[in-house]
Amino acid sequence: MISSRDIHSADDARRLAKRRLPWMIFDYIDGAAGNETGARRNRTALDAQTLEPRILQDVSSRSLAKPVFGHVAERPFGIAPMGMCNLAGPGADQMLARLAARYKVPLGISTMSTTPMEDLLTQSEGNAWFQLYFSGDGESSFKLAERAQTAGFETLILTVDVPEVGRRPRELAHNFKMPFRIGPRQFIDFACHPRWSLSSLFHGKPRLANFDLAGFTFDRKESRARADWATLSKLRDLWRGKLVVKGVLNAQDAARLMASGVDAIQVSSHGARQLESAPAPFERLQDIRNTVGPNVPIFYDSGLRSGEDVLKTLNQGADFTFLGRILLFAIAARGEEGLHELWSVLSQELSIAMAQTGRTSLV
Ligand SMILES: Cc1cc2nc3c(=O)[nH]c(=O)nc-3n(C[C@H](O)[C@H](O)[C@H](O)COP(=O)(O)O)c2cc1C
Repeated sequence: MISSRDIHSADDARRLAKRRLPWMIFDYIDGAAGNETGARRNRTALDAQTLEPRILQDVSSRSLAKPVFGHVAERPFGIAPMGMCNLAGPGADQMLARLAARYKVPLGISTMSTTPMEDLLTQSEGNAWFQLYFSGDGESSFKLAERAQTAGFETLILTVDVPEVGRRPRELAHNFKMPFRIGPRQFIDFACHPRWSLSSLFHGKPRLANFDLAGFTFDRKESRARADWATLSKLRDLWRGKLVVKGVLNAQDAARLMASGVDAIQVSSHGARQLESAPAPFERLQDIRNTVGPNVPIFYDSGLRSGEDVLKTLNQGADFTFLGRILLFAIAARGEEGLHELWSVLSQELSIAMAQTGRTSLV
């Protein structure tokens, strides 16, 4: 029986999440920079790209597995680092960690995660990468990187597209802050969404959990503008594992990153949350691939909404992809069940698209 609570697409997850979440939280997750034309530009680029049907090939046995840094992930998509995931619903961090463990896909753990990085590394059974923001004079960022190394993380993602936090009018309109203050406007918002509010109240307000330990602080509004190539080189010297730089849209930058010893670059516009007028990241992929050559690992995130989008992105030269807000929407819609439902939808979409384009493997 078809129910309006079922998730048959990422759009379904978003629609259901919009009903459940307080407006402030929905807009924090869904919002983008400026008038959000950047998000639409990338969507238009993805929609315009076609997949070529091929016929009469035996595609009865197909694998969605894809190697990434020597591990075999069971899907060519992982979980992008997102701050404050537990705002989508209590236990969202753990749901994502269990998903990563089950499918052996990388889970990006944000600097601003709502569960301590060490716990998520364990819960994901080692399938977690720590994402670092440089902030202020960098002292606390380097301490955080050292802590991640001590915890046993093998991969560090340095996000470089936030020298300043982008202006996102939908967030600003709600006066969204972390930890959030509950004024009259938020009170009405939360009262209109009792299911979310009661369960979040019951489980305790989400907090920036990597800063509970003495000596670790982070101010989301503090400028991150002082990071430069010397910062990267210092980090490269410190970090013994794999280093990914996330938020790359320029081919010369990509080439310089590779010359600086990074292990992979992540083409991303931060889900269009930073520079409204940035080029569509999907359209930058080919140029960046042509510039850095065939052997450099290129990861991609931003705007992916279906398994077909993932296949298009791999066809454009990405080695691996990451999904962002749609996973939080699935959790907001129906908790862990919703997350698994969307994951299965994406997997089926990809598998069917592979069959229709004559592919049995993504390797
Ligand atoms: C609610 C939210 C929080 C985010 N927080 C972070 C973060 O803390 N660090 C980071 O590198 N990227 C962060 N991102 C960006 C994601 O890692 C990713 O680039 C983006 O979500 C991909 O686009 P998509 O949501 O359209 O899939 C965040 C994105 C969202 C939606």
